[in-house]
Amino acid sequence: MSLMNQMFRKKFPSDLVTEHLTKCLTAWDLGLMGVGAIIGTGIFVLTGLAAATQAGPAVIISFVLSGIACGCAALAYAELAASIGGSGSAYGYSYAAFGEFIAWIIGWDLILEYAVSVEAVANGWAGYVKDALKAMGAGLPHKFVKGPLALLHTDKLTAAQKLLPANSCAFTLFHDCYHATGDIMNLPAVVVILALMGLLVMGVRESVRFNAAMVFVKLLTIAVFVAVALFHIDFVNWKSFMPFGWYSVSSDGDTHGILAGASMVFFAYIGFDAVSTAVGEAENPQRDAPIGILGSLLFCTVIYIIVSGLLTLIVPYTSLNVSSPVAHALQLVGVNWASALVATGVIIGLTTVMLVLYYGLTRILMSMAGDGLLPKFFSDVNKNTHTPVKNTVLCGIVMAVMAGIIPLDVLADLVNIGTLAAFVLVCAGVITLRRTEPDMRRPFKTPFGIALPILGILFCGALIYFLPWFTKLRFVVWLIIGLAIYFLYSARNSTLTQENR
Ligand code: ALA
Repeated sequence: MSLMNQMFRKKFPSDLVTEHLTKCLTAWDLGLMGVGAIIGTGIFVLTGLAAATQAGPAVIISFVLSGIACGCAALAYAELAASIGGSGSAYGYSYAAFGEFIAWIIGWDLILEYAVSVEAVANGWAGYVKDALKAMGAGLPHKFVKGPLALLHTDKLTAAQKLLPANSCAFTLFHDCYHATGDIMNLPAVVVILALMGLLVMGVRESVRFNAAMVFVKLLTIAVFVAVALFHIDFVNWKSFMPFGWYSVSSDGDTHGILAGASMVFFAYIGFDAVSTAVGEAENPQRDAPIGILGSLLFCTVIYIIVSGLLTLIVPYTSLNVSSPVAHALQLVGVNWASALVATGVIIGLTTVMLVLYYGLTRILMSMAGDGLLPKFFSDVNKNTHTPVKNTVLCGIVMAVMAGIIPLDVLADLVNIGTLAAFVLVCAGVITLRRTEPDMRRPFKTPFGIALPILGILFCGALIYFLPWFTKLRFVVWLIIGLAIYFLYSARNSTLTQENR
């Protein structure tokens, strides 16, 4: 069979790699995993940044627009999770709809989404822990709270970089270069990733229990914020509601406006897709997957609209460009005890985001290895713990090292574009399978035919468009690396290739 035919041959993901996992997750567990992964940096940190620099109080509209895009994608995820199953998420669905090659691209893209999210959130988490320890009089030595590499911004470019033509590809790639700081490592970021690694190795049941407890505390924190904020609303803060308009691009390439804000706060919704990576461990996947995916997204969207609305109503949006805007706003209105409580909630909230995304990463790698696109090492399940121990430990070590040495704020932009690309393909997968497999059993079916998947493609495509162009360029570089690995390793070793030998 020619390589071309091989690349586009389809197959439904086999459940072979997931058969040794424990099937213990209920719809409730899946929903809590979704909430665990979704609510984090996006609402606690990015809302302030997006309000102050992109959308003003109209950030609430940015949240609604992003929520609609995610809602269309979530319906598509729910349909494919219920009818195709497996733990490969968008990777598995692309395999069924488009064949091995597109599936590899999307799997490679998901590795970026999940791994960089965990590392980026670990950096944010470390910042909060550092401040909390300092407040308790137990600050860590300076050399252990920052990685040895830091961003070198364009205003401090070296002479060599200044020789590159401005706005050329090379200049863009070096736009944010790293330089040595003399620090040793970001110890809290390393410790939290290794601790989560231990938890995930122990078993999925233990991890899910830990997640549920932490989600409860996170929601309590949000409830406290809402209760306090309701007493400090001042509509004067909404007088200039759309100070940046809908969309504009400044001379340095940065984007502003409600639509650019929507692309930025999209990060807040990432995570509902992680529910689909747990389908291989669900008790009744066909019923529970749609409930978990759609339920968690709907719940979090309502919370985001309430929190972003209240945040911009209690203080001027211009005061929100800080690392912890929710806690900061409470301080500005004079409720210091609530501010401390919110900071604790953030530390806990970010822990569950890392836990669920880390879990999702290991399950996607497992599925890709099950199809022979990655070495078998990634799909081995330990007989005692019923978890992919080798895969989990390797991911933990790599992510801990990365999070310990590099600040990941620039790479975090890549997470949004990678996730949006996955959402576009999942919506396209629904449309394709409705045509190619009309009789496939669909326990959950997206309503209104293919209208909502088409809307999902348009909305997610538009959010990609509104991202800064250097983010798009970096994403292309990541995909080129993925293509090289596919042709040098995966295409030669895939299960389909082996079957045809
Ligand atoms: N949605 C997750 C967060 O906001 C990734 O942290």
